[in-house]
Amino acid sequence: MQVVSVVGARPQFVKLAPIDKELRLRGIEHIIVHTGQHYDHNMSESFFELLDIPKPDFNLGIGSASHAGQTASMLEPLEKVFLKVNPSWVLVYGDTNSTLAAALAAIKIHKPLAHLEAGLRSFNRAMPEEHNRVLTDHASDLLLAPTQTAMNHLANEGLSAKSILVGDVMTDVCLNIAATQGTSFDPKSLVGDSPFYVATIHRAENTDSPERLCRIIETLAGLDHPVLLTVHPRLAKFASEYGISLMRGSLRTTAPLSYPEMVSAVMQARGVVTDSGGLQKEAFLLKTACVTLRTETEWVETVELGVNLVDNLATSEQISDFITDAANNSWPTETPYGDGKAAENVALTLRQHQVD
Ligand code: UD1
Repeated sequence: MQVVSVVGARPQFVKLAPIDKELRLRGIEHIIVHTGQHYDHNMSESFFELLDIPKPDFNLGIGSASHAGQTASMLEPLEKVFLKVNPSWVLVYGDTNSTLAAALAAIKIHKPLAHLEAGLRSFNRAMPEEHNRVLTDHASDLLLAPTQTAMNHLANEGLSAKSILVGDVMTDVCLNIAATQGTSFDPKSLVGDSPFYVATIHRAENTDSPERLCRIIETLAGLDHPVLLTVHPRLAKFASEYGISLMRGSLRTTAPLSYPEMVSAVMQARGVVTDSGGLQKEAFLLKTACVTLRTETEWVETVELGVNLVDNLATSEQISDFITDAANNSWPTETPYGDGKAAENVALTLRQHQVD
C-alpha cells in the first residue's frame, strides 16, 4: 500500500509527524507532498526537523496568494504528482487551502481520498477554513474523525457510512512531546519571572480589519501579567500595514516558536489567549486554561469542561478572571480527544479500507 500525504501549513506538519511514524512502522510506503503554502523556516522546515519528519518527496513551492490564486496554483502540480505516484490513498489534513486543493485534484482523477480531522465544524461561513473542511468532507471516500462530536456532524450531513472515529492525532504529538522532549527554550528570558500568558492571533477575521486587530492588541496589552505574543506572519503583515504597534503594555513579542518551545511555554503559562484551533486543544491537554477570541470553536469539549472561554469580545479583566477561576478549580479528568493512539488507528483504518 502507498499513501500520499499532502500538507502545506504549520498545523498540518504537526499532524503529519505521528502519521508518518505509524505508516513507516507498518511498512506502508509514505510519500510526502508539501504545497509550499507556509515557507518561512520557523513556519515550515523547523517543524520537519524538530518533529523528525523526513524531507518532503515533492515541494510545490506555491507560497502566498489570494484564496483562489493559492488553491488554483496547487491543483495542476498536485494532479501531476498523483498521476506519477498512483497512490492507494491520498491523505489530506485539516482545513487549509492545501487540503481543498489536494482533495479536488485527487477526486478529479479518481484517486481514493481520505480526510484526517473530518467532521469539525464552526458553522461560521465567513471562515475560509469552514468551506475547506465541508467541501473536503463531502468529496472524500473515507472520513477520519477526531471526536464523537465530529462524528455527529458527519452523520447530520449524511456521511456516516464513510466515517470512522480514530481520535485526535494532535493529541498523540502533544502528549508525546510534553512527556519526552526537553527544550532549552526558557520563556522567562522573554517575559521575566512573573506569571505570564501565551497569546497567538492569526485568523483572517481577527487580523484583516484595522478596528478588530486594534481592539485585540489593546486587550492583550491591557492584561495583568506579561503576554508572550508569538507573531504569525499574517499578524506581522497587517499590524505593520495598519500602523498598530505590538510593543506596548504587557506585550512581549517573539517570532513563531517551534513546536517543543510552544508546548513548553504553554505548560509554564498561567493562561493562553488565542484564535488558533490547535492551540486551544493543546492548552487543554497541557492543563492550562484558555480564552479563545472567536465567536465559536470546533473543539466544543474544552468549553463544556469549563477550561476554555470562547468570546471574541472578552476584555482584559474577563480574560484574567476566567483564567484565575479555572486555575483555582480542579482540572477535568475527561479525555475527549482519545488516548494518544489516533495515528495507529489511522494507519490500520487506511489498510482495512484499501480499495486496490
Ligand atoms: C493558514 C490556514 C489556517 C491555519 C493557518 C496556520 C487557510 C485558508 N488558512 O492560515 O487554516 O490555521 O494557516 O498557520 O489555508 N506568510 C509568510 N510566511 C509563511 C506563511 C505565510 O510570510 O511561511 C504570510 C503571507 O503574507 C500570507 C499570510 O502569511 O499572505 C497568510 O498565510 P496563508 O497561507 O494565506 O494563511 P494563514 O493565515 O497562515
